[in-house]
Amino acid sequence: MKVAVIGTGYVGLTTAISLAMHGHEVVGIDLVEAKIKMLRQGQSPIYEPGLEEALAAVLQQGVLTFTTDLLEAKESEVLFVCVGTPESADGTADLSYLLASVSEIGTLHRSVPRARTVVIKSTVPVGTGDRVAGLLGDCKSLFVVSNPEFLREGNALVDALKPSRIVIGANHDEAKAVMERLYDGIAAPRVLTTRANAELIKYASNAFLATRISFMNELARLSTVLGTDILTVAHGMGLDSRIGPDFLRAGVGYGGSCFPKDTIALLQLAQEQGVSLNLLDKVRQINRTQPLWFLQLVKNAIPELKGKQIALLGLAFKPDTDDIREAPALAIIEELQRCGASIRAYDPIASSAVQKIFPGVSYCGTPAEACQGAHAALLVTEWKECVQLPWDEIYANMAHPALFDGRNAWPVKEVREAGFHYTGVGRS
Ligand code: UGA
Repeated sequence: MKVAVIGTGYVGLTTAISLAMHGHEVVGIDLVEAKIKMLRQGQSPIYEPGLEEALAAVLQQGVLTFTTDLLEAKESEVLFVCVGTPESADGTADLSYLLASVSEIGTLHRSVPRARTVVIKSTVPVGTGDRVAGLLGDCKSLFVVSNPEFLREGNALVDALKPSRIVIGANHDEAKAVMERLYDGIAAPRVLTTRANAELIKYASNAFLATRISFMNELARLSTVLGTDILTVAHGMGLDSRIGPDFLRAGVGYGGSCFPKDTIALLQLAQEQGVSLNLLDKVRQINRTQPLWFLQLVKNAIPELKGKQIALLGLAFKPDTDDIREAPALAIIEELQRCGASIRAYDPIASSAVQKIFPGVSYCGTPAEACQGAHAALLVTEWKECVQLPWDEIYANMAHPALFDGRNAWPVKEVREAGFHYTGVGRS
């Protein structure tokens, strides 16, 4: 099928590449010329494992092209809208990019009428699909579908090629049939429903996953006091098939471009409808305070942080991405600096982005270098480069051998045997 993907950010680019790999003829469209130039040369503007290799392959096969001109989508039967819906000042989703794209699609459709399905993949408040359908005149030749994405950064291509489910929100059978043809051959459960249901499935999924994390983080605070082990507790809970093992890892809190933004957007949406989502409100509150709770563990051990050197290992909001949006590392740096500590940080790829916000931090080339002379080392992101470390060398070079494991990822037995004082999140 001929497909156009509008917006070549992390969702759009992954969608375009995976659909091209799936045998469709895809054109990726973006306003930013520099981005299109890079993409045409096979360079990915974002770091995502496997994406650049896959991009090179589909470019070579000629099944994916890039342009800044929406007119090049005039032959496309399916048009994906994958533009950003960032958080506005009041927490609601900013739909200005989405509505601008829709208006351009309307112009294209009027000048070159043909059967088209417009697919909204951007995360949007419930009701947006219906609003877009109203704007475009959802009819016999043009349909609007909500098809939310469930990609995880760092795993996006795998998630796109082997999705956990495909949610198709469409109010016409013709549009459902087009989407079935598009995803034909992809083995994943289908949820065929209304646009509004599909939109809420997306927000509810992210809000629920965020809830699990905050639940475990709050439980970890109790576990610390009780002297119980949150990892064993999570394991014991996760074996219950009604609970499952995923997203039970306590740590320094969730970050990224999705959970923080989508939870506030859902809260705002509910508030507009006169409904209070009290649990979700607490979920966000726990997450906001989790980096500070973690730092309190450090302060308990080192009451006077002023003038002390602290090593931070990992800065990205999670491993395998260079994304630092809402990364817990940012709140940790801010508080450590407020306390007068000097920070030596290491991240395999996210350092330059953090440096723009915190130029006063010393950015190091290896974890061992960051730990040199430090009074404590904090694991903030569980990159494998930050987890498997030369412990004896690090022990010999730290001013004080204290490890604070914000992701419960360091090998406790090994580091204790090496002589370190180890503190995890909710560990005995
Ligand atoms: C999340 C969802 O997992 C995807 O399904 C969704 O498509 C995506 O948002 C989106 O809406 O676009 P992502 O933000 O890439 O994906 O990352 P996650 O793997 O979900 O991790 C989010 C945060 O939670 C990270 O900071 C991670 O470290 C943290 N986390 C995750 C925990 O603290 N504990 C856990 O057990 C799991």
